[in-house]
Amino acid sequence: MEIFSRKVKKVELGDFINTENIIDQDCDLYDKESGEIIFLFRKKIIDEKYYKNIHKGIINHSRTISNNRGNSAGKTTIEGLNKFQENWKPSAHPVELVDRKGNIIENTKSSSSFFKYADGRISKRARSNNVQSQALGGFDRSNIHPCRLTHWTKKNLTKYETMYPICERISEIYFSYFPDKYYYQKDRYDESPQEFLIPNSPFSTITLNCDFRTACHQDKGDFKNGMTCFSVYEDDEWIGGELCFPEYDIGVNVRQGDLLIFNPHIVHCNNAIDGKGRVSFVFYLREKMNLCYAKDKKPSLSETTIISSSILGQMYSSSGSETDSSGT
Ligand SMILES: [Fe+2]
Repeated sequence: MEIFSRKVKKVELGDFINTENIIDQDCDLYDKESGEIIFLFRKKIIDEKYYKNIHKGIINHSRTISNNRGNSAGKTTIEGLNKFQENWKPSAHPVELVDRKGNIIENTKSSSSFFKYADGRISKRARSNNVQSQALGGFDRSNIHPCRLTHWTKKNLTKYETMYPICERISEIYFSYFPDKYYYQKDRYDESPQEFLIPNSPFSTITLNCDFRTACHQDKGDFKNGMTCFSVYEDDEWIGGELCFPEYDIGVNVRQGDLLIFNPHIVHCNNAIDGKGRVSFVFYLREKMNLCYAKDKKPSLSETTIISSSILGQMYSSSGSETDSSGT
């Protein structure tokens, strides 16, 4: 099925929106005015063996908390900042949203905020609502960090490599439908350091999200002329969670075995998830991975250092596929 549609709704980034018009069959959506592809959706195109090959440690890692996902985590609330932190000592809980100077804010329209702890301290940096989301693989250079593999990836290379076969399969499908975009992306990939890339694919990075209902957001940090690939692992039982493009008032029911190839700069979000164990994978290429070679020279060993996930998160908020090449 092919659909040509105009944008029919205005949405605000950071808002949670429910979409009732859900696609659950092979479908391509195009913008009626520009003719540009918004998404291509194929049901049961990835064999079960690729999901079975994925190490359980990857799935467990998807449940690690991040507080830097910006718009995808929704507008900041005290409840959101405390989510998943039931075991923290009482004094470490956020109790009030404040501005940079410590003045109390009743409501914020922002997706990150400073806050006051129960013991009266003011947070040193603004945070987003807590969500279960992590990045795997390579990251490009930020203002303060060199190109690198994420800390977990570097420490768990054998587990990480169990993602390679599904990456290769998705890469084949991507090429078969979008050879031009694939080659654009592969050219950028080929200009980038191999040690930060996923072999036999045009990807550098995978965002993992577990039971993460994203609010309206656009991904950042990904290669602009390429496409993002998206699939879901069913680790338990759930319904809902459809990936939606609210401006077009249309959503897609992505389940295990399905592949969505989409433009991540179009606003997207999820419907509510009922149940648990929805682990989504977002496969993409970091836009600036080719700049890891500073001034036409190969990186030194110091440029291939690793950093902790928490520090990675800090840069995410400024540049991050916020997973946002994610957040899906
Ligand atoms: Fe996203």
